[in-house]
Amino acid sequence: MISRVKGTQDILDMTLFNFIVGQAKKHMQTYHFHEISTPILEPVELFKRALGLQTDVVTKEMYCFRASEQEGTEEICLRPEATASTVRAFVENRIDQIPWKVFSWGPMFRHERPQKGRYRQFTQFNVEVIGSNSIAQDALFIKMIDRFFSDKLKLKSYAVLINFLGCSSDREVLRTKLDAFLEKNINTICATCRERKEKNIMRVFDCKNETCAQLYSKAPCITDHLCEECKSEWEQLQEQLALLSVSFIHKPILVRGLDYYNKTVFEFVSDTLGAQNTFCGGGRYAHLVEYCGGKEDQPSIGAAMGIERLMMLLDPIKERLPLPHELAVYAVIPTSQEQETLALLIADQLASNGFTIDMLVDGSLKSRMRKANKIGAKATIIIGPDEQINHEVTIKNMTTSEEIRIAQVELVNHLKGML
Ligand code: HAM
Repeated sequence: MISRVKGTQDILDMTLFNFIVGQAKKHMQTYHFHEISTPILEPVELFKRALGLQTDVVTKEMYCFRASEQEGTEEICLRPEATASTVRAFVENRIDQIPWKVFSWGPMFRHERPQKGRYRQFTQFNVEVIGSNSIAQDALFIKMIDRFFSDKLKLKSYAVLINFLGCSSDREVLRTKLDAFLEKNINTICATCRERKEKNIMRVFDCKNETCAQLYSKAPCITDHLCEECKSEWEQLQEQLALLSVSFIHKPILVRGLDYYNKTVFEFVSDTLGAQNTFCGGGRYAHLVEYCGGKEDQPSIGAAMGIERLMMLLDPIKERLPLPHELAVYAVIPTSQEQETLALLIADQLASNGFTIDMLVDGSLKSRMRKANKIGAKATIIIGPDEQINHEVTIKNMTTSEEIRIAQVELVNHLKGML
């Protein structure tokens, strides 16, 4: 047996997956976003610039390879996220209509240690507003996502965590204060945090070590060191979220795993997911357009939700959702090989009239009838030698077991009457 690659999944029933993606598309369209699609393959350089050279994704999680020699030496990779790609598409296609409000969805790839809810190939639904500086945009954006989870997916047990990372000078102030704090506690923090202190100090807040986490609850907090402008924006954000009835928790150590964020950051979390409890995350960013070669920077905000994690949350409560009903199947059964040609024509005629059909031609007649039962057929259309000679069919209603014989020309109308 050849097994699937570690950290990947086979999804054998796509009902819930398609429901989430379908509802998300409709929901985002209500807020005037439109759908785009970007390639799965992107230049490695894009993510090095956009996500930061010291992030886990760039240092150890990317699937990179070189294109063939004929195509040059460009290093390409399987995309680990969609924000950088969306910004690249904005710059490369010279979009001049701002704000550019777009969404996309598809597979992402990160070479992480697989565990419950953490995969090496997973699906994100990604939403971005490129080119808007207003905090009111952040409030509406967070409300839009919150409304999607509560109204469309009927999720109840989750929390919205928010933080405000300020501008780059605010973060510079915090870095100095944090450095002094870590220096004082250098013997308490783990080796990874010691390394992060030197290379990318804000990343210490990602540490899962109990002792470190406890210590960081007393660490200097960015929202206490905001400049006047950022302070007023942070207050405005909280007021507007309250106005829109978003119940949020301020988490001072929420920094997010990618380096492009500034000002507003947020995560939607649920305890029922276990260790990988974030099912949606995002925030504001300022410099990606410039990093991707755009002339002018564009303040932007975006978020991505993990479809697999949403499926884990929704599976136990899926009866609350308006999932599509299974389609009524009509099984066409020739009783022997001589009736197969006629069965083919009848099956084709039913399909062209919009009926869901299956043609059962393997095994004995008894096993074909058993199969019709097993697939939950609404009715079977039986064609034997007698029916063939008389241009008729026998219809067996699989719920009542009632059988009737009608002319072939009346079949479509008869089945329409059964709907
Ligand atoms: P992220 O927090 O890295 O953000 O990922 C967003 C979501 O993708 C997570 O909350 C999670 O649900 C899902 N996810 C991430 N990694 C995995 C994994 N290994 N297995 C399963 N699910 C996973 C971003 O990717 C940003 N680009 C979001 C964003 C958009 N920020 C601004 N715009």
